[in-house]
Amino acid sequence: MTTTETEIQHLDTPALRDSAGAHLWRHFSDMTTTEKQPLRVMVKGEGCYLIDSEGNRFLDALSNLFCVNIGYSYGEELGQAALAQYRELGYHSNWGSTHPKAIELAHTLADLAPEGLDHVFFTPSGGESVEAAWKIAREYHHLRGEKRWKAIGRSMAYHGTTMGALSINGIPEIRSMFEPLLPGASHVRNTKRLGRPGKETEEEFTQFLLDDLEQRILAEDPATVAMIIMEPVQNHGGMLVPPAGYSAGVRALCDRYGILLVADETITAFGRCGAWFASERYEMKPDIITTAKGLSSAHAVIGAVITTDEVYSTFYVAGRKFTHGNTFGGHPVMAAVALRNIEIMQELDIPRHVAAKEDELRSKLESLRALPIVEDVRGSGFFYAIELTSTDARGQRFSDTELARLYGDELLSDRLVDRGILLRLSLDGGDPVLCIAPPLIADSPEFDELVDGLRDVLSALSLDAGLV
Ligand SMILES: Cc1ncc(COP(=O)(O)O)c(C=O)c1O
Repeated sequence: MTTTETEIQHLDTPALRDSAGAHLWRHFSDMTTTEKQPLRVMVKGEGCYLIDSEGNRFLDALSNLFCVNIGYSYGEELGQAALAQYRELGYHSNWGSTHPKAIELAHTLADLAPEGLDHVFFTPSGGESVEAAWKIAREYHHLRGEKRWKAIGRSMAYHGTTMGALSINGIPEIRSMFEPLLPGASHVRNTKRLGRPGKETEEEFTQFLLDDLEQRILAEDPATVAMIIMEPVQNHGGMLVPPAGYSAGVRALCDRYGILLVADETITAFGRCGAWFASERYEMKPDIITTAKGLSSAHAVIGAVITTDEVYSTFYVAGRKFTHGNTFGGHPVMAAVALRNIEIMQELDIPRHVAAKEDELRSKLESLRALPIVEDVRGSGFFYAIELTSTDARGQRFSDTELARLYGDELLSDRLVDRGILLRLSLDGGDPVLCIAPPLIADSPEFDELVDGLRDVLSALSLDAGLV
């Protein structure tokens, strides 16, 4: 018996569950589901796998929350980096003065970021990076003598849950109960092509999207729009890759109307799409990048906003400052862990590994298209979505009750869990989407395990849906 098994045997799972039930308020969670299904308590991670308190082992095909880019096996290295920093200096802020790890990490990020993005402002999370980006954009225009405050995002996009970031979200289901939100946020079409007229060319689709964006800018009054924010590949809605010419077109509209372009790379940075930054791969040329998750592979609480010299220099004037800050942004221990994470990614050559393996992952996932329940497979790097059908054998849309039955836990997630696979299905705007984003260390054996499990579960689901 390994040490792990011995340790797990000593965990009192029922007591942990009782205590969680009494005190722990989980995020975005229906707290009553534990009455039907016992709460899973994860206790250990190894490579791409998670192990629960009862010793069950799961392939984590979502990198937890799209974040454990290097997986779970580097605790020793990251822990040593944290310990060394705790011994030196356990905390110092970035207000006024600073500390070596913030300097080193800012330097490293400037080196890795796309050309011209050289100035780094640290935050404690992705949402706070987005929040800070919107404030940078507003203050940037203010310092240049313009009153611009509005933000344009895309429908179905997720940007975080703080009130500013939430206002930019294009997901009605998580906004409506908090309205009124911040004024000035509006949304344009995202790049989902499924469902567009069959005869439409990619070029026509791109033009259609750019026209939609330009109309929105004009409707808002361009002189009031501070920023356009978009992920290089949009997660929510199901890994929406930009069509050819889209990113350049958005950049051109930003230039024409004096609007800052923000690439929200909270998920896509640090290798997810086969490059350090997906905005580089998709030639977005943003003025600002927001990041978090992969920066430390989520092993430390840290995010960052990276800006161009043009943006930064507006603030770099005697008597001026960016009027924003927080206690934890660029915390020395978090920065030390992020630096060690990046070193590990460099040692493993992660972006190159993802780029080299993405065709294999794609073609294995594409093989699932043979199943009648699979409507679409799309994405890039290690960032894929499988859209499942929302229509029955006669092409009629399933009722909401039927959608909930088919894509609820019992027929889908629980079966995947029984196969030892952790994945998430979201009903994005009513369209069922399975999100696939394994840790970036995953390789052929993990791809096979994932696709074999998916094939079995989705075959059974095709039967349940009356499609075969
Ligand atoms: C694109 C994007 N932006 C922002 C966020 C918010 O990040 P956080 O949960 O760290 O606040 C997320 C989280 O998933 C995200 O995917």
